[in-house]
Amino acid sequence: MSTGTREFKTIGVIGLGTMGAGIAEVFARHGYDVVGVEVDEDGITKGRQHLEGSTARAVKRGKLTEEEQTELLGRVSFATSLSGLADADLVVEAVVESLAVKKQIFADLEAVVKPTAVLATNTSSLSVTEISTANASPGRVVGVHFFNPAPVQGFVEVVRTVVTEPSVVEDVSALVRTLGKNPVVCGDKAGFIANTLLFGYLNHAVSMYENRYASREDIDAAMRFGCGYPMGPLALLDLIGLDTAYEILETMYRQGRDRLHAPAPILKQMVTAGLLGRKSGRGFYSYE
Ligand code: CAA
Repeated sequence: MSTGTREFKTIGVIGLGTMGAGIAEVFARHGYDVVGVEVDEDGITKGRQHLEGSTARAVKRGKLTEEEQTELLGRVSFATSLSGLADADLVVEAVVESLAVKKQIFADLEAVVKPTAVLATNTSSLSVTEISTANASPGRVVGVHFFNPAPVQGFVEVVRTVVTEPSVVEDVSALVRTLGKNPVVCGDKAGFIANTLLFGYLNHAVSMYENRYASREDIDAAMRFGCGYPMGPLALLDLIGLDTAYEILETMYRQGRDRLHAPAPILKQMVTAGLLGRKSGRGFYSYE
């Protein structure tokens, strides 16, 4: 599909967890060929199940016909190695929030992707600049930060570093518009715009719960019914994933040393105990 000066047809998505699978769905939904990369067959099976489940829900709600679902799923192929990304015009990395893992991927991508391919990271809080320096061509590296659930939220932060080529930022922003989403361009600072504003609030809600100031239901109800938020902070943390939320807070705290972002101790305890939210069946609430 033609957007700005670049032609984007095949999109690679590395990591098919909650965000990666959602991002793969969004691109396939809008006519792009998608190659989803996972570390092993088990990861691919989970990614495929996520896509099938999400699109089946859309069919049930009358937002997608069965034929459209079949076509959409037919546009997604899978690979267990980065070499599956040889034809990608854009690669979106959506693996765990680990700088070391992401840097290794961006270093390895150099040998397999086309020289013209744009490389994007969906990191929520790590330095896009630092990730980009692992690649031999940091000018083609950009942040594309989708929100959860990616098929629903209509906003994407396009993060430019001091060395991202301006045409990359323009073309990726144009591409985001073809997905029916609003791109905003911002600089490379932990948390970007939305998470910087959101995570202090979420962390505060966890502290309130930890201190037994109010019940989880009442904390959530206050923000839903008192302030009109679509969901309360503890339910939202369960959606985001407590492990992801912890990593984001920890990174933001390390960078800014703002007490607002010092992760509430119970968050770490819940992550250690495997209470990760919706994806593990239990977090602040139970989903089993
Ligand atoms: N995939 C696809 N579609 C989904 C979906 C999913 N996982 N979850 C919900 N939807 C769709 C539903 O199909 C439904 O569509 P229609 O109304 O067109 O039928 C619509 O979204 C609303 O869903 P529900 O009626 O089931 O539930 P809801 O009205 O409570 O909405 C919600 C659910 C969209 C999650 C809404 O509560 C919401 O927007 N919550 C806030 C989410 C948010 O703040 N996200 C940002 C998190 S921060 C982040 O992501 C950044 C980061 O780096 C971690």
